[in-house]
Amino acid sequence: ISVSLKAFRSAFLDFIDDPFYASEADSVRYFSDGLLVLEDGKVKALGTYEDLHEIYADVSVTTYPDRLILPGFIDTHIHFPQTEMIAAFGEQLLTWLSKYTFPTEGKFKDKAYAQEIASFFLDELLKHGTTTALVFAAVYPQSVDAFFEEASRRHLRMIAGKVLMDRNAPDFLTDTPETAYAESKQLIEKWHKHDRLLYAITPRFAVTSSDEQLRLAGKLLAEFPDVYMHTHLSETVKEVALVASLFPESDGYLDVYDRAGLVGSKSVFAHGIHLTEAEFQRLSEAQAAIAFCPTSNLFLGSGLFNLTKAKSADTPIKVGLGTDVGGGTSFSMLETASEAYKVTQLRGENLSSFQALFLATLGGARALSLEDTLGNFEPGKEADFIVLDPRATPLMARRNATASATSLAELADQAFATIILGDDRAVHATYVMGELAYKNKAYEPVAA
Ligand code: GUN
Ligand code: ZN
Repeated sequence: ISVSLKAFRSAFLDFIDDPFYASEADSVRYFSDGLLVLEDGKVKALGTYEDLHEIYADVSVTTYPDRLILPGFIDTHIHFPQTEMIAAFGEQLLTWLSKYTFPTEGKFKDKAYAQEIASFFLDELLKHGTTTALVFAAVYPQSVDAFFEEASRRHLRMIAGKVLMDRNAPDFLTDTPETAYAESKQLIEKWHKHDRLLYAITPRFAVTSSDEQLRLAGKLLAEFPDVYMHTHLSETVKEVALVASLFPESDGYLDVYDRAGLVGSKSVFAHGIHLTEAEFQRLSEAQAAIAFCPTSNLFLGSGLFNLTKAKSADTPIKVGLGTDVGGGTSFSMLETASEAYKVTQLRGENLSSFQALFLATLGGARALSLEDTLGNFEPGKEADFIVLDPRATPLMARRNATASATSLAELADQAFATIILGDDRAVHATYVMGELAYKNKAYEPVAA
């Protein structure tokens, strides 16, 4: 009867609370045979097939047997202009930036090139099951236009911004405090809340911005308090020392941003590996977020993020996972979760599969202040979701003997193996606002 409704039948996993603080029973929601009902691209209901199928008997159902449906992955830190320079050999952060990153980002002055890479980048995200990301563009406003035009065409919820940098970078990549302010303001007026798009004021990091540029960025944030602030923080020991020498009057790295008015609840800081106790406290009190980027931190040799400290009950900080491509080495949030697990192992701790998947979904949504909009299957939320195949490869099929778990313990084990062994091959389909946006070529859903 109702043509605006549609439904999906499969196994479903999402989170209704944070498994770092709440028990698994209170935080994990799982239906081994569930029904997800959508209306106009948003969630109307999720429950067991048995409970719901008679209520929605007239609604057409797409069935995914032996699959696991999750909310779309959320990547809380990534650089679209670095797509083509992923896997650059042999350097740590500061020399990696000057040797590889800056020359590559210079190419984004060309709008057509920026458009081509933005299109490829977004297709790559969807192929890996990522439906929302917080994205660095390049210093050129046209690189932001290119990105948002391509995101808009795909109806994606994306957050991005023009990079601000006015020193310690090649001339072809620098702006000034005034142009950075004016161009960012124009981009906010053009793109913030246009379709599903949101804007982030994006100083690259304290090393490449003058005091005056940071001050004007803070002024802009005060004028538009619902836009984001996105930057890097305390990624390497050398960088922390350089910031101390560039800002001798400040009381540490975070304080450089704080004095400029850049530390608040819409602020997202990538890395935060070398933070002091006072900085953990300040981030917690400000309700700012950290993007944990393990593949990048290992690849660039930056260090091991202290996730346990960030998630401690004393100084709880909102944490999401970031791929940080091209410092990071994969677009896959499954691979990123796998490396996050290994980072915790190197610290003598461990990350459960539910904690990892929380960080990749509802935790990311909370880090981006989007928990009222997406991140799980609560009614009214935007229906961005992915269909995973826990038995996608011959090895995964051997490891995961059955596709649908019948207990939370079995699900935890199956999810763990999917994280450790999985990548884009485990993503069978990606839906955006309830519409199919990517389909793994080897796969056809069964219409019931
Ligand atoms: N710090 C400043 N710029 C960058 C960047 O592009 N990537 C990473 N990983 N860290 C940064
Ligand atoms: Zn980065």
